[in-house]
Amino acid sequence: VLRNFAIVVVGVFLGLQVSAQQAPALPTPPPASLPEGAPTPASYGNLPAVFTSTCAPCHGSDLAGGRGPSLFAASLLAASSDEVLRQTIRDGRIDAGMPAFKDQLSDEAISRLVAYLRIRGGQLKGSASFLPDPNGQVVTSRKQKFRIEVVAANLDTPWGEVFLPDGRMLVTERPGRLRIIDRNGKLLPDPVQNTPLTWSRQDGGYFDIALHPDYRHNGWIYLSFSEVAPGLVAPAADDPAAPRALLGPAPPTMTRLVRGRLSASNEWIDQQDIFRAPVDLYKTNVIHYGSRFLFDGRGHLFWSLGDRGDKSNAQNLATPLGKIHRTNDDGSVPRDNPFVKTPGVVPSIWSYGHRNPEGLAFDPRTGLLWESEHGPLGGDEINIVEKGRNYGWGRVSMGLEPGISEQHGKGMEDPIAYYSPSIGPSGMSFYTVNRYPGWKNSLFLAELAGQRLLRYEIKSRAIRSEETVLQGFGRTRAVITGPDGYLYILLMNSQTIGSAPGMVIRLMPEK
Ligand code: HEC
Repeated sequence: VLRNFAIVVVGVFLGLQVSAQQAPALPTPPPASLPEGAPTPASYGNLPAVFTSTCAPCHGSDLAGGRGPSLFAASLLAASSDEVLRQTIRDGRIDAGMPAFKDQLSDEAISRLVAYLRIRGGQLKGSASFLPDPNGQVVTSRKQKFRIEVVAANLDTPWGEVFLPDGRMLVTERPGRLRIIDRNGKLLPDPVQNTPLTWSRQDGGYFDIALHPDYRHNGWIYLSFSEVAPGLVAPAADDPAAPRALLGPAPPTMTRLVRGRLSASNEWIDQQDIFRAPVDLYKTNVIHYGSRFLFDGRGHLFWSLGDRGDKSNAQNLATPLGKIHRTNDDGSVPRDNPFVKTPGVVPSIWSYGHRNPEGLAFDPRTGLLWESEHGPLGGDEINIVEKGRNYGWGRVSMGLEPGISEQHGKGMEDPIAYYSPSIGPSGMSFYTVNRYPGWKNSLFLAELAGQRLLRYEIKSRAIRSEETVLQGFGRTRAVITGPDGYLYILLMNSQTIGSAPGMVIRLMPEK
């Protein structure tokens, strides 16, 4: 059973890669070295292959983890009995994005996999696959040599970043804090006071932050986060050290988008809702909230919502889930949105068929809206998002998903590029100034699972080339251009499960 399943899955993955016409070549992840005298992989039989094809796309193949935690982490293995591990693999944790394997893997196969996790975990212990302190590292990329400068460290799971016109920087931390880095690059010890309450587990917490294009006059700051359904009391925050198996059930949560102002004493004031979902859309899972947003410079705000773990939402125009939305700056619906005249449709919908979009960027040369989105098992996508179009999730995917057998569909857009296995694409932005001459007009993409910063050269609607600019320093979540013209990137330690220490770095050009 085990062998057949492995062959089928490997085969499907190879099939996907071979058919990846436009998808750029995938660099191999940094090798995790085996200690001397370790048993050779051959002595495990085909377990490494099963793991690589079935588990690694989400969990990574080293201590770094990916979409899910590393299964080789000493902290996880020490805290979980074999029985708990077997049970998780058998029954999955559907609400958290961990599929059940009882129909694909026999009990014996599952037991052997657990043994493999322990053996391999022991081998990998201590062999860091990333450099926790990148400060001062010099990287020579294809067109630009640069030095990494750590601007601020000791942030917890940074998610969104923006500069205020006075040179201060705001960074969201996923557990629910808005932090200020002052003009001198000092991280203030106290977060902004009175920001909204979130409930954070897995994908949930504080997400993106942006300024109104006319911020200088109106002071509006936009913030998105996951919250517990109105009227319910949020349970206590999870203990970050607790094994996931011991955490209590999640309350119903949903993405909310607000705007507010920052007072002179660093308080969050004047809050207004831009989007708050009806109570029946608050789900007790902790995945696929979206939520990136972006102004188009013409008074519109684009924002993304994930499918909240149910792919049928993405094709259902009566729900806002699994969509890119377009509203005015106050959350009202523009009259030229594609579905405003269609009865029963959520009028803010701009495009649909999305799974979990975490990146949005306008190409200033073409005005096209580029988007990045997490696929299921493989099938991460880069799309160009256009009015009223269907991007297929729920019906078609380049990745593996039970219930989806087609990769293309009539009336559905193919991705511009896709990635199998998954890379975990997150924030993206176009670089338009001149600090790094060879990078002008490149699209940068931050990557979680693959732990890279990618640079694309784009011509109109096509990716002409792809280059890994950063790798081996942790997960990257967002990338923006600072007022000084340098790229500012949110990095996260990848060796910690769940909430993770993170930092802001900038790339300083070197001759
Ligand atoms: C589609 C993505 C996906 C695949 C494929 C997948 N997992 Fe998971 N897995 C997850 C996620 C996400 C979590 C975290 C769940 C949570 O937070 O409770 C997880 C959690 C786990 C846990 C519990 C970890 C903990 O912190 O307690 C184990 C054990 C596990 N997975 C084993 C496996 C094994 C073994 C395979 C391959 C047979 C596998 N998973 C395949 C997504 C996946």
